[in-house]
Formats: sequence, C-alpha cells, structure tokens
Amino acid sequence: MKTVVSGIRPTGNLHLGNYFGALRNFIKMQETNNCYFFIADYHSLTTHPTPADLHGNVKNVLIDYLAAGLDPEKATLYLQSDVPEVAELYLFLNMNAYKGELERVTSFKDKARVQPDNINAGLLTYPTLMAADIIIHKAHMVPVGKDQEQHLEMTRTFANRFNRMYKVDYFPEPVAYNFGEELIKIPGLDGSTKMGKSEGEGNAIFLGDDSAIIRKKVMKAVTDAGPTQQNQPKPQAIQNLFYLMQVMSKPEMLSFYEEEYKNCRIRYGDMKKQLAEDVIAFTEPFRERIKELSANNEYLRKVVSIGRDKAHESAANTIREVRNIIGFRSF
Ligand code: TYM
Repeated sequence: MKTVVSGIRPTGNLHLGNYFGALRNFIKMQETNNCYFFIADYHSLTTHPTPADLHGNVKNVLIDYLAAGLDPEKATLYLQSDVPEVAELYLFLNMNAYKGELERVTSFKDKARVQPDNINAGLLTYPTLMAADIIIHKAHMVPVGKDQEQHLEMTRTFANRFNRMYKVDYFPEPVAYNFGEELIKIPGLDGSTKMGKSEGEGNAIFLGDDSAIIRKKVMKAVTDAGPTQQNQPKPQAIQNLFYLMQVMSKPEMLSFYEEEYKNCRIRYGDMKKQLAEDVIAFTEPFRERIKELSANNEYLRKVVSIGRDKAHESAANTIREVRNIIGFRSF
C-alpha cells in the first residue's frame, strides 16, 4: 500500500482551485491508500494571522475537507500543529538546506515581492517545512496542484540529501501526483492565470459561496469585445473562461461555445450565465454539508482528536528512527 500525504494552508475557505488541484484527489485516493491529509496551520504563520483568524480559518478548512467528502475513517485527518514532530524534522532538514537554493524558489521570490516588509525566515524555509510534512510519514505520493511542483522537487532533494548524508535508504522519493495526468492549475476569474485566495476580490469562487455571489462573480469575469476573425487565438482571460467551462460544464456546452467563438458569434454574457449555473449546481451539495458541519462542533472535535492520535503515532515512529540515524542516541 502506498502512503499519501498532502495539506492545504488555512487562509480562508477553500476555492475551486484547491478543490480541482488537490482536494478532489484526496477524496479519490483515500479509498485505496494510506492517506494523511492535514491543515497546514504552521505554514500560515508566515503571513502573521491574528489568533482569532487563524483559529477560524483552521475550522473553515476542516469543515470544507469534510463537506467535500474526506472520510476520517478512511484517511488520517489532522492539524499540522498537533504533530510537533513535524517541527523537529523541519529543524533537522533546515541544517542541510542552503540559503542559495531556498532563495531561488519561485514561491519565495513571489512572496518576497508581495510582502517586502515581511520576508521572514519562515517564508525562506517554507519548502523545508513542507518537506518535513511529507517525509514525516515517508510518503510516496503527494496530490497537489501545478503551483506546488517545485516544492515537491525540493522535497526530493532534501529527502535524498538526508539519505546520502547518513548513508541510509530511509526516506522514499515522493512525487506530485494527479493520476498520471498533468498537474492542474485553475485560472482566476479576473484574467489572471491562477485562482487563489490571496489574489484580488472576485478572482476566486469558494466552495461555500451562495448562488447569488457565484452569479455575481462569474458575470463579472473579465472578457473582451469578442473575436473579429475566424479561429482567432484566445487572449488569456478568454482562455480562462473556456478552461473553467471545460472543468465545470457538460462537454457539449464547451463545444457549442468553442464553435461560437470560432465563428465570431460568441456572446460572453450567455456563456457566463451557463457557467454560473453549472458552478452553482456543482457546489450546491457542499453548501448544504458546510452548513450542517458548522453547527456540529462536537463532531469536529472528535475528528481532530482521532486524527491527532493517528498522525502522531506515525510521526513519532519516524522521528525516533531519524534521531537514531542522526546520532541522538541514549547512553
Ligand atoms: P495552498 O494552501 O496554497 O493550496 C492547497 C492546494 O491547492 C492547490 N491549488 C490549486 N490547484 C489548482 N489550481 C489552483 N488555482 C490552485 N490553487 C491552489 C495547491 O496546488 C495545493 O495542492 N504549500 C502548500 C500547502 C502544504 C502542502 C504540504 C501540500 C504545506 N505542506 C505538504 C502538500 C504537502 C500550499 O500552500 O498550498
């Protein structure tokens, strides 16, 4: 049986990008693998949330996980901060992670640009913490979206470096996984190539958004005056809209609008109306379960407590062995 690990940062509710890039695969993979899915609350500290926001966001992500179909009986579902062994492994890995390689990571460079007044050490060492998350359970597969590809490469580097340094064959090489397909990147509604929670207002659709909000966001999606020549290449924002339709709508809808575009007859208003209704239909069951779960604190507490015990057992095992390999041994 393969071991699967993945997580999502709690910075708000989950959006369609998180769902199609990651969560959807968590749900499929829990059926046949040894899965560990967590809420990456240590990671979210890089942006300095208030305690109330941190707690609220962790709860939201937990609810979204469960609403989407993660089953705590099939997968181990836990909070990263409930497993301090992760922090210990992070410390060990940081001793062999070099400033130069960390500074070259794209996500670091992007974040440093976005928050120039808060380029903290946690941001720089984000990939080592992520590697610790993954190899603490000796994972083989990591379901993630396209934006995490480079982090997985770093994880392999750190795992291999540990093995080489101590002349052991201890950590497997984990791979980013999407059932043999290209990793996914869901675009934003504002014309940008990525749907994300830290992008601007109106970029992302969240699993819990109600139908009026979804309609409003989709109808506001960026478009242009339309093609003027047959088979004209699509600008980015238009490609985004078609990609969203490919993911959310029936194939005949997509081919209908492709044909309309090709022949310069497309009416973006109609296309967006269709897309909005398809998104609403798709997210309807999430909204209902989110409402139910939000009112059931006792169940949430139970889920977290069971997950903590299971994740802790696996992590403690690894740390015991890692300490021994490194040379922290009792007299
Ligand atoms: P985060 O919280 O930014 O995103 C969580 C997951 O959602 C995917 N994702 C997307 N996929 C497709 N299209 C999009 N627009 C989109 N936006 C987000 C991400 O690829 C990711 O899979 N560093 C991670 C969290 C993390 C983690 C880990 C993941 C911490 N430790 C260990 C895997 C294993 C992050 O910030 O993801």
